[in-house]
Amino acid sequence: MAGVLIVLINLIFSVSASICIEKQVETTGVEDQATILFCESDLDNESSTFTWTKDNHTLEPSSRITMQGQILWLLNTTSSDGGLYVCRSTNSTFSTETRVFLSVEAGPCLSLYDIDVTQEKNNISLSCSEERIPVLGQRLEVQWWKDCKSTGLRGSELNLFNVSMSSKGNYTCLVIFRHEDKNYTTSLTYQLIVKKKETVKEPRVIQPRNKTLYVKPGVEIKLECNVFIGIGEESKQETSVYWIINNSYIDIYPDLQQNLTIEMREKSWIYGRLTLLIPEILPEFFGIPFHCVILNPVGGDQGQLWLSRDDYTNHAWLITVVLLVLAAVLSAVLLNFFKIDLILAYRHLCGKDKTIQEGNRYNACVLYFPGPGSSTAEDFALRILPSMLEQQHNLRLFIQGRDTDTGGNIASMTEVLSRSQVVMLILPGNNEDDTLIPISKDQNRLEDSQLSVFLSDITHFGVPLLLVECEDDADYSLLPESIQSSIKKDRVLKWKSAVEPNGPFWKKLRYHMT
Ligand SMILES: *[C@@H]1O[C@H](CO)[C@@H](O)[C@H](O)[C@H]1NC(C)=O
Ligand SMILES: *[C@@H]1O[C@H](CO)[C@@H](O)[C@H](O)[C@H]1NC(C)=O
Ligand SMILES: *[C@@H]1O[C@H](CO)[C@@H](O)[C@H](O)[C@H]1NC(C)=O
Ligand SMILES: *[C@@H]1O[C@H](CO)[C@@H](O)[C@H](O)[C@H]1NC(C)=O
Ligand SMILES: *[C@@H]1O[C@H](CO)[C@@H](O)[C@H](O)[C@H]1NC(C)=O
Ligand SMILES: *[C@@H]1O[C@H](CO)[C@@H](O)[C@H](O)[C@H]1NC(C)=O
Ligand SMILES: *[C@@H]1O[C@H](CO)[C@@H](O)[C@H](O)[C@H]1NC(C)=O
Ligand SMILES: *[C@@H]1O[C@H](CO)[C@@H](O)[C@H](O)[C@H]1NC(C)=O
Ligand SMILES: *[C@@H]1O[C@H](CO)[C@@H](O)[C@H](O)[C@H]1NC(C)=O
Ligand SMILES: *[C@@H]1O[C@H](CO)[C@@H](O)[C@H](O)[C@H]1NC(C)=O
Ligand SMILES: *[C@@H]1O[C@H](CO)[C@@H](O)[C@H](O)[C@H]1NC(C)=O
Repeated sequence: MAGVLIVLINLIFSVSASICIEKQVETTGVEDQATILFCESDLDNESSTFTWTKDNHTLEPSSRITMQGQILWLLNTTSSDGGLYVCRSTNSTFSTETRVFLSVEAGPCLSLYDIDVTQEKNNISLSCSEERIPVLGQRLEVQWWKDCKSTGLRGSELNLFNVSMSSKGNYTCLVIFRHEDKNYTTSLTYQLIVKKKETVKEPRVIQPRNKTLYVKPGVEIKLECNVFIGIGEESKQETSVYWIINNSYIDIYPDLQQNLTIEMREKSWIYGRLTLLIPEILPEFFGIPFHCVILNPVGGDQGQLWLSRDDYTNHAWLITVVLLVLAAVLSAVLLNFFKIDLILAYRHLCGKDKTIQEGNRYNACVLYFPGPGSSTAEDFALRILPSMLEQQHNLRLFIQGRDTDTGGNIASMTEVLSRSQVVMLILPGNNEDDTLIPISKDQNRLEDSQLSVFLSDITHFGVPLLLVECEDDADYSLLPESIQSSIKKDRVLKWKSAVEPNGPFWKKLRYHMT
């Protein structure tokens, strides 16, 4: 009560100080309802008298008008009640005047209102208690209307739970009271504004989430923690960001310093950067958790960081392993790439390619098929092969058509086969218009029948086959199916006039023949 009085006195005092003795207030009444006019006065009501005049006529109590100290009741307000009221308050030494201007509206709901603002999903209570609306006599009931339509709700408080946007509107309480055997009504209107609840974003530690740092004991280090604080300046309030070490506050290590810098980025999102300066890493810091913590009323989060000894031997070991793996990979690649050269070199060194010494063995028995329109295969077999392999590399070839007699002795061919390391079949293309080299007429070629016997002998002896395609469109139809199916992919070589003498073609050929 004393508090209320002090507030009241303060209010009165401040008002009087600014408006001097005379004050003017405005108020609104509703037709057919009771209206209260209040005489704001500096004077103490106990020892003062209050008189009201309207349009220079002193008002007297009547069936429609009641006066109680500073309060004037217009019990059944009519439109003609609107106008200027003057209240004079007098004690033995002072006299003050207050002017009240009353305007009267058609009811039942007042257009002047108290505004109440709330957020979606909140609960709110609107009050038409005795303190808010004093009455004369006895309060009979309080009805609640919304937007000037009855809601059927009764009671001096209206409680709205979990308000939604549709809850907004003008709420009017009609207070019905009984005075001198008559029922009167007075009212109060609230405008309720409901605001959309903004999606609040919880604070978050962005970095580190769970990180390990490798450091040496004794050195200085600055740990860094980046956090998202919230949206809008106000999210900074009541937010704390701090480090904890081994689940204790860092105060136990007086040398450590934390520093938080805050910045606002787009859409007024607030971010923070918290550093922890450790002037000297103590041995006990290894293997205990460092946590960066952010807390505010909306939520909390924490990130974790560990310090680990920067171990050089560990590193050296790791580097060795990596180098070894790299070396292995590299040598595998190289080996694969230069396999043939290496094997050829090895064979050369060990004299393994001097097969000629083993009696009369052949490195290869060469059989070529002349093409329909060209003799590229023939040229390759009779001219290019010998010049390359026999003259330059000392290999021994048996070339059908060169080393056979006219007509071809199939018996001696079979014997050659048994003494050959590989059989080289040379296939021409089957495009007839190709006439690079004209077909020679006088070759000692096998007859078709002899050829098929010879080919079946190859399969019989199991001599490895080597196939050379002399032209792009090699004619496999010249070979029986049994031969075709026994040729391995890696033993098919493509010869072109452009191959280099030291290129892979000749190396591969030699590789398979020695
Ligand atoms: C009259 O009111 C004034 C102002 O409040 C006060 O100072 C004065 O003492 C009052 N006089 C009496 C007799 O109460
Ligand atoms: C009230 O009386 C004063 C002087 O006493 C006068 O000046 C004023 O015009 C009057 N007002 C009305 C509304 O009669
Ligand atoms: C004076 O005002 C107080 C509260 O404002 C009230 O309780 C009291 O009844 C009033 N006295 C008179 C005589 O009106
Ligand atoms: C208020 O006045 C109107 C006419 O102005 C009358 O009809 C009505 O009965 C009155 N109400 C009360 C409670 O006196
Ligand atoms: C609103 O009131 C209900 C029921 O009393 C309560 O469960 C809920 O927590 C309240 N909501 C708010 C936002 O205060
Ligand atoms: C609040 O109202 C909304 C719909 O308006 C509903 O989805 C929600 O469940 C309500 N919450 C509570 C706590 O009643
Ligand atoms: C509430 O009353 C005010 C003032 O009369 C008006 O502007 C507003 O539209 C009303 N609101 C509703 C929802 O009727
Ligand atoms: C006054 O209100 C009470 C209760 O609401 C009702 O019983 C009574 O009839 C009313 N009297 C008049 C004169 O309207
Ligand atoms: C953090 O990382 C370590 C390994 O670096 C792992 O053992 C541990 O489970 C992680 N902790 C969390 C909470 O993810
Ligand atoms: C904290 O950091 C800011 C910016 O990085 C710097 O200006 C300030 O001096 C630092 N404060 C302390 C106590 O280190
Ligand atoms: C860390 O905390 C654990 C238990 O909370 C305690 O046993 C340990 O000694 C602490 N380590 C250091 C280095 O403070």
